[in-house]
Amino acid sequence: MSIKDLAKKQFKKINPEVVGKVFKVAKKIPFVRRRIERELDGFMADMEKAAKPYRDEFPRYRRLPNEGIARDEVIDQITAMRSREDDRWRDGFVSGAVYHGDTEHIDFLNRVYALTSQSNPLHSDLWPSATKFEAEIVSMTAQMLGAAKSDDEIVGCVSSGGTESIMLAMKTYRDWAREHRGITSPEMVVPTSVHAAFDKAARYFNIKQVKVPVGEDFRADVEAMRKAVTRNTVVIVGSAPCFPHGVVDPIEALSELARSRGIGFHTDACLGGFVLPWAEQLGHQIAPFDFRLPGVTSISADTHKYGYAAKGTSVVLYRGRELRHHQYYTVGDWPGGLYFSPTFAGSRPGALSAACWAAMLSIGEEGYREATRRILETGEIIRNGICEIPELDVLGNPLWVIAFASKTLNIYKVMDFMGKRHWNLNGLHSPACVHIAVTLRHTQEGVAERFLADLRDAVEHVRAHPEEAGTMAPMYGMAATVPVTDVVGDVLNRYIDLLYEV
Ligand SMILES: Cc1ncc(COP(=O)(O)O)c(C=O)c1O
Repeated sequence: MSIKDLAKKQFKKINPEVVGKVFKVAKKIPFVRRRIERELDGFMADMEKAAKPYRDEFPRYRRLPNEGIARDEVIDQITAMRSREDDRWRDGFVSGAVYHGDTEHIDFLNRVYALTSQSNPLHSDLWPSATKFEAEIVSMTAQMLGAAKSDDEIVGCVSSGGTESIMLAMKTYRDWAREHRGITSPEMVVPTSVHAAFDKAARYFNIKQVKVPVGEDFRADVEAMRKAVTRNTVVIVGSAPCFPHGVVDPIEALSELARSRGIGFHTDACLGGFVLPWAEQLGHQIAPFDFRLPGVTSISADTHKYGYAAKGTSVVLYRGRELRHHQYYTVGDWPGGLYFSPTFAGSRPGALSAACWAAMLSIGEEGYREATRRILETGEIIRNGICEIPELDVLGNPLWVIAFASKTLNIYKVMDFMGKRHWNLNGLHSPACVHIAVTLRHTQEGVAERFLADLRDAVEHVRAHPEEAGTMAPMYGMAATVPVTDVVGDVLNRYIDLLYEV
């Protein structure tokens, strides 16, 4: 019997929270522990093959080489690995991950990186160009997200990615509320669909995360969120759109709720910040989600996704400098001198900001509009095609991040089959579903049609072979079983360990 079956049998019909606690205790019993370890060992052995494909083909470096290796040889190794990894995303088999990916665009960003690889915004005196780039990235993003129509000044910072932008904003609200409202046990009220980065922020910064189930349309439930607000709430969050189902929360109502209570409201537009403004201009019905709404006090928007920059940049924006001050770190009595840093890192890669700035300038409004048009067109083809497959249901009302589930088939097995056809899709929970985030890679000729043809085959195959277990399907199935979530935590820890093994 598998862990999943064991847990299901033993903990059926018991309160999930109680089950979780019982399981934690049970894990400490040597027999149970050994049983879990044995199952995990088997699972990890399978994962190892996939995670470490180069082990037998390339030299491994456990310690520094005695003498430096010739640069050409180093480049050769990287080139060989890269050539194995490029095709999948370049040919549009991957959900999200690489959002632009045209060779000329990449070459341009690489040239900018090469010109600026030594720069570090921490040393603003040495590289004023780096701080100019960042100030302009922030300003251009703010203008795109309603700053001109806001009564307040909209300011912000460049961070390393969506997670950092979100974590910075959550820390900022915690510190703001402590100073202005004396809140020492801060809470954030979020729909269950928000990105894991909010949970990470809650754990890192000791903020209680109050998760509110989404409605049937997979959007935040405003009334339920209202009920979840307490005297300790420092921020309410909504997504535009959310990662799992690609739907936009009712930001106007949520931000008004926050405003009426005098608390912050964060729009997570990591995914949609560089798409929705252009979608609106293209005539799509996009409800306001940005600083045009007076209750929106911060926004995260990722330049390294649909901003088409290289990986490693995002923007966090605030309504007013005072709020942003709670994000900064400054120290005056450090023996190392006067020190300040706006974000979590100290030294930062100025070259990534330069490449981001260059991407934004070279694409311009016209380029973003055109990219959005192509992505939304392809999103519609894919969405309609999925709707035509009787076994599948599209969840909610998405534009270009499209989640689908099945009432009759194990959707994770469908995902597994798609994997055999080289597709790399995202498996999601609650409900069990899979999504594809459409990028410019999918707008290439024939890609959407190939996706739909493979998906039809996948559905047909899973329908015809219910006995097949699949490869990742059991893992996803297990993760969705409440009593073993703790085991899944163990699996993920061991998986991360594996990634760091030479
Ligand atoms: C809505 C949303 N927020 C936040 C993030 C986190 O972004 P990152 O992976 O850049 O940290 C993502 C990533 O996909 C996202 O979709």
